[in-house]
Amino acid sequence: MDAHKSLTIGLFGFGVVGEGLYKVLQQTPSLKASIKKVCIKNPGKKRNAPDALFTTDKDELLNDPEINVIVEVINESEPAFEIVSTALKNGKDVVSASKKMIAEHLPELLGLQKTTDRSFLYEAAACASIPVIRNLEEYYDNDLLHSIKAIVNGSTNFILTKMFEDKLDFQQALLLAQQLGFAESDPTLDVEGFDAANKWNFLLTHAYGIVIPPDALVFNGIQNIQAGDAIVAAEKHNDIKLVAQAKKLENGKVAAFVLPQFIKHDDHLAFVKNEYNGVVIESGFSDKQFFYGKGAGSFPTASAVLSDLSALRYQYKYEY
Ligand code: HSE
Repeated sequence: MDAHKSLTIGLFGFGVVGEGLYKVLQQTPSLKASIKKVCIKNPGKKRNAPDALFTTDKDELLNDPEINVIVEVINESEPAFEIVSTALKNGKDVVSASKKMIAEHLPELLGLQKTTDRSFLYEAAACASIPVIRNLEEYYDNDLLHSIKAIVNGSTNFILTKMFEDKLDFQQALLLAQQLGFAESDPTLDVEGFDAANKWNFLLTHAYGIVIPPDALVFNGIQNIQAGDAIVAAEKHNDIKLVAQAKKLENGKVAAFVLPQFIKHDDHLAFVKNEYNGVVIESGFSDKQFFYGKGAGSFPTASAVLSDLSALRYQYKYEY
């Protein structure tokens, strides 16, 4: 136990989420967490933080015995996996937001968590500000989870809202999603459904305990949706949303996919607009529940990282 130690963070990545965390930590002194070093790829860029904070040498963070928590928000799958696995092996707790990396490596990461006896937390990797992983894992642990229906990608939901309600064309809406920091650096990951499928992959592990190979999930994105489709949908009192769905079948198997769907105006998910995400869960004992919150953006995603840092303290690993 390191309960006497304060959280000393080595941060990988200073993009939308990394900078968001830096600012959020300045406003939350009660967490007693500080960023000692930030590892970045491009040292020439102007950043709103002291130069001395930055390095391009990952070992300065991974081998520093004072750094007890690595926060990894670089969102490049293989380099992220390398950082996270080395950090765990070096005895550090790890918080990550790299959805693709987690979807591709979850069994190995859960194994490493056990063998190293460190924590690997990633609430920020799905639905940003909605504490969905913790709820699926803990709250519903012994409940009979019948079905989950969710919007898990903020950018596509933002684009559809802007196209159908504000009459922007697809490219304008996408540009706005990029400017606001919602979209991935390669936005085809959002538009073509890869990001939603990655999130759905590991959310299903937490919901149903199943491990799905990353390329096994049926999914599509919003790339083929046209402005005119909204008229067809509206005539039938529907919206169009990119929906991730899973249902437990009578034979015990789980049917799951991510596809654009018509959503009735009185459906909970019809309420989910712009970069918001929503999750509707139906279970045996708690019945129907609806989680709603911002699913993309700097502070909502940083808030989920912050909640993981708090969780490390609640595990009695760090100073209160
Ligand atoms: N590009 C992602 C989204 C960011 O739009 O949902 C949050 O994971």
